[in-house]
Parts: sequence; structure tokens; C-alpha cells
Amino acid sequence: MKDIFETLDKITIITNISILSSVLLLKYNSNKIKQPVILTDIIEPIIDKSIIFEPIIPIKMNNTQNQITTTTKFDRYPHIFKKVCKIIDPNKEHKILSFGCSTGLEIQTLNKIYFKKSKIDGLDIKKYIIDNLSKSNTNNNIKYYSDINKLLLNSYDIIFCMSVLLNDTYNLVLNKKVYSGKPYTFELFNNTLNNIDKLLKVNGYLCIYNTHFIFSESSIFKKYKIININTCKSNDTAINLNKHNKVVNNYPYVLFQKIRL
Ligand SMILES: C[S@@+](CC[C@H](N)C(=O)[O-])C[C@H]1O[C@@H](n2cnc3c(N)ncnc32)[C@H](O)[C@@H]1O
Repeated sequence: MKDIFETLDKITIITNISILSSVLLLKYNSNKIKQPVILTDIIEPIIDKSIIFEPIIPIKMNNTQNQITTTTKFDRYPHIFKKVCKIIDPNKEHKILSFGCSTGLEIQTLNKIYFKKSKIDGLDIKKYIIDNLSKSNTNNNIKYYSDINKLLLNSYDIIFCMSVLLNDTYNLVLNKKVYSGKPYTFELFNNTLNNIDKLLKVNGYLCIYNTHFIFSESSIFKKYKIININTCKSNDTAINLNKHNKVVNNYPYVLFQKIRL
């Protein structure tokens, strides 16, 4: 019954209830039913009240480019990966997403060193990179995607988002390296994190490093708890800002657990 109601939208249900009431009224009028029937007596037992009768509209995520450069390296952040493996058992199979996987070296790192038993998906907004990776991929534990809407919602145990939520251009103002691109906005940071949050399971972990703004400022932070893995930042990372563009010194957190939807 739950399945049936899940496929119906509000209008269908209201229509069905109206049809049912008309039938009952007709039957009552034609004396097939001897007593008046209260509609809720019939409807209530079959409706699971926990179901919210909203139309089922697939969520379409709008994924926008953050970091423009594709710089990456095999085992780029060993000081973080090692600590993450102390919190999340690497000997179990997890479903992992490398958000902003670039040419796949982060995925190779996780697959060959840290999470050998896991299934790892890589997402990058640059379709030509993903098309090439997909063509040459022979590893059944690895899949590549360029369209975020092809990924399953609430399905990942761990999401790594390393050196993606920034755009080095803005750091010109802060005397850091400059590439091409637009100034990085808090809105873009927050929207991208909202997409990432939709993909992560409750109790899943988000490992997020080298970001322009700090995760605690995001609107999803309230759903997460900090897992303090006592790691230090390397000095090639972005200067951290709060949402009012004020510098935050020594922001130490990189691992967060989603504690509710
Ligand atoms: C600097 S690379 C980081 C690669 C890898 N995570 C690492 O740390 O070595 C940033 C990558 O993020 C990708 N990217 C930027 N915005 C993205 C988005 N909204 N969705 C998916 N990928 C994105 C870029 O195309 C680029 O390949």
C-alpha cells in the first residue's frame, strides 16, 4: 500500500478520495449500504500517516564549477588519508565518492593504498577528463561520472572533497597564487556543499580540505558533527575565510560526520 501511495501525487489522491466518496454516496443512496459510512473509517486504516503526500519530483542538482585547475597528485594528502583510516575502518567495504576527482589520482590513491576494499566513484565537472578516464578504466571497483545527477542520493559512506571548493583567483587579493576565473563566492561554496550533502548517507563522513570558506559557516554544518583528527594544514592550502570574507586563522577541521538528514 505504501508503494501505491508513494507513486501518487496530491492531486491523484484527492481525486481518488473524491471518486471513492461519490461511489459510497451512490451505494448508500441505492440502499446497498444500510448505514452512512464515514469516509475516514475506510481511508485511515490504509494510510500510513508518516507518508507525506508531496508530488514525487526527482531532485535535479545544479552543479557549478568551483576550482578551475585540475592540479592533482598521487597520495597528495597522506597526513589526512592516514588519519581518516584511523576513524573509518579501511578493511570494510565502503561506498566512496571523490568529488572533483580530476584525472583520477585521488581515486587511485584511495583504491591502491587506503580503502582497497571499497567501491569508489569519481565525479568531475570536466566531461572530457571523465570520458577519457571511463574509456581506459578496467577496475570494477571504480566508476567515473561527469553528471552529478547520475549519482544516487544518500548513498555514499564517505565523500572526499579535496582542493575543490575554492578558486585560486580570489586569493590574488590575499597575495596567493592566481589562475584564471571569477571571484569565488560563499553562495557557490554553500550550494556545492548542499549538493554534496544530498549524496552522503546519514552517519556517513565528509572529508573536506583546502577550501576557501570554512565548512562551519555552511548551511549544512548543523547536520554534522566534527571529528577531530588533529591534523595540521599544509602551507600550500587556501587562506580560510568566514562568510563575511574575514580571515579565519588555524581552522583545523577536515572530517565531519553527518548525523541527520
Ligand atoms: C585541483 S583539482 C583537485 C583534484 C583532487 N581532488 C586532488 O585533491 O588532488 C579540482 C577539480 O575539481 C573539479 N571541480 C570543480 N568544481 C566541481 C564541481 N562542482 N563538481 C565536480 N568537480 C568539480 C575541477 O574540474 C578539478 O578537476
